[in-house]
Amino acid sequence: MNQGSVGKPMARVDGVLKVTGRAKYSAEHVLPNLAYAVIVTSTVAKGRVKALDVTPAQHAAGVVAVISHLNAPKLPFREHKSALDPIGERLHVLQDDVVRFNGQPIAIVVAETLDQAEYAASLVRTEYAPETPRLDFSGGLERAVAPAVGLLPNSPLPADTRRGDPEKALTDADVKIDAEYLIARQQHNPMEPHATIARWDDDRLTLWDKTQWVANVRDELAAVFGLPPENVHVISPFVGGAFGTTLRAWSHVTLSALAAKYVGRPVKLVLTRRQMYTETGYRPETWQRVKLGASRNGQLTAIVHRGIAETSSHEQYVERLVEPARFLHSCPNVATHYALLPLDVHTPVYMRAPGTASGIFALECAMDELAYALHLDPVALRLLNEPQKDEYANLPFSSRSTRECYRLGIEGFGWSARKPEPRSMSDGKLLIGWGMATAVYHTLRGPAGAHVRLLADGGAEVESAASDMGPGTSTSMTQVASDALGIPPERVHFSLGDSTFPFASPHGGSMTMASVGSAVHVACLAARAKALELAATDEHSPLGGTNLNMTDAADGRLFLRADPSRGERYQDILARHGLDVLEVTEMTQPGAEHNQYSMNAFGALFAEVAVDRDFGVIRVRRLVGAYAAGRIVNPRMARSQSIGGMVGGIGMALMEHTITDRTSGRIVNADLANYLAPVNADIADLDPIFVEENDPYVNPLGAKGVGELALVGVAPAIANAVFHATGKRVRDLPIIPEKLL
Ligand code: MOS
Repeated sequence: MNQGSVGKPMARVDGVLKVTGRAKYSAEHVLPNLAYAVIVTSTVAKGRVKALDVTPAQHAAGVVAVISHLNAPKLPFREHKSALDPIGERLHVLQDDVVRFNGQPIAIVVAETLDQAEYAASLVRTEYAPETPRLDFSGGLERAVAPAVGLLPNSPLPADTRRGDPEKALTDADVKIDAEYLIARQQHNPMEPHATIARWDDDRLTLWDKTQWVANVRDELAAVFGLPPENVHVISPFVGGAFGTTLRAWSHVTLSALAAKYVGRPVKLVLTRRQMYTETGYRPETWQRVKLGASRNGQLTAIVHRGIAETSSHEQYVERLVEPARFLHSCPNVATHYALLPLDVHTPVYMRAPGTASGIFALECAMDELAYALHLDPVALRLLNEPQKDEYANLPFSSRSTRECYRLGIEGFGWSARKPEPRSMSDGKLLIGWGMATAVYHTLRGPAGAHVRLLADGGAEVESAASDMGPGTSTSMTQVASDALGIPPERVHFSLGDSTFPFASPHGGSMTMASVGSAVHVACLAARAKALELAATDEHSPLGGTNLNMTDAADGRLFLRADPSRGERYQDILARHGLDVLEVTEMTQPGAEHNQYSMNAFGALFAEVAVDRDFGVIRVRRLVGAYAAGRIVNPRMARSQSIGGMVGGIGMALMEHTITDRTSGRIVNADLANYLAPVNADIADLDPIFVEENDPYVNPLGAKGVGELALVGVAPAIANAVFHATGKRVRDLPIIPEKLL
């Protein structure tokens, strides 16, 4: 409907709540008799806890309990694997004396106040029987192993793929590229720290937890404590940024519940910024090697993409590192290999376009190197190798608007003014570089449900166990519900972040709009149909004798399309039937079309950098991202989300680097002063452009999601721009000034 709210730049429905401090984040809930917990962490990377002296801590003021493997209750830790959990066995926190990584929880102190808990935690003395940890990533690559199995529901991840004869094609190629790429470990660093408040009422557990997936926290805690899932209630209405870090229920959630049980009081546990570098995951460090072969005229003849990522020694975290090489560009001979290097570190997790962002960096930098070798414009090289279908899956694309992305990107950026030679553009003392890269992110959709309540006052309430870590789920779902019901958005209230609401797939992988949006859409249509049925079978209703196909809904009213004056408001239908409320629950899931089409969002990133000739300081002057992500439900929020993704890409390219001490496993820069991330002064002109794209296959809304796509391609576009500016090819991220000198 053209009157509809989908597609409009509606302001955030919870914006005022957030800026006035009335939006309550997990740590802000106030409970009577609350005690405060602080985690004591290991200071060696591998070994055993030989002795633990907790006596001084126990005698410190205000201390309620000190819990370690010596006195912690033995927990069932039943098998539980969400669709996103890694292969292997999760940390059984405080269940034994084994130290698996530096920063592992070895005790928890509970006190009357946070200060008392922190002070007492500092008094715990530990003696270790240390062993030599394996911590060297780049020196240990030959130990890498193939991951055991796949990744996400319905998308198996073969570690190795092959088509044609890439080795022979490389030997025969006119032009060859063979290069290695490194990406440092990176940390999510959301503003809001991880926080959990746990309260027991007999054998029922309530958790106020920062999470992107309430259903998963419920199931994980139920498994850990051996409870039926319905005994665990997870509440998480607001999330202050996450970027993937809360797609798992980490051990601090278990610790808060364990501590609350032990002391018989509600317990609050907030990770410190330093602990966020070890109690939760990170984007793993990666090594990649890309070999490309091409004919003299620029046709790709071979791609060999090999990637190795770090993981922990107890779990295999897998992501789509080498996947784009299989289908992004047309090529008859392709081999990809993915392996993991287990180290004595904690387990990585999804972060900002996990896998894809790292893999695309290598692939799209190699494509840039090939363009220079061929004396071709980088966009022209890509257009020469534009595939007709997904050559890996052997499926048609549900839609693929790469050409439109290049066209709009070139136009928006002014790319045609680019001088092809490196070091050929300058601005006074500054070297100027223009670089580009192609972006892709697979379009996912998972099962999700929604519950709709049409109210006697003409308004509506919609619920789903979804999350909103910042993109604006609450707002976009209000828009979707408003259109499907034909009720103005001001009269629709959408609620999320509660495990008692209908199940929703994880709020990650850019799949919320596709999954939860579809559920809200379908459930609201069902509620509208139910209301119409009441009217249609009612001779007193102006809609008596009509049916769904003859009617429309707008302004809170159902009416005959052929004669809009003949209609009735929702509340009048309810009133005449003596109903206070009309309720509908619908569960939805992806259909067969997900096996019939290759579904991806595509983009093209264009970057301008200015590099100081003497000091190597790099500044991203502007970024243009042309994105084809299907239907854009809210252009204002999509723009905001894309700008966020671009900022993350700038961080990945130029700053972010979690530094591990290779002897002790200690994170050296575990704070916001020493872990460099972009601030306002680092950001100049960011311009996301959305390509109009109508994809009838991805989901009922036609939305592909922009969250991850926005970041993919930013780092290689910047790296390629740095080469264009300086003539120096830096193949390891972050590109810090030292690497240019
Ligand atoms: Mo995102 S890494 O899927 O939260």
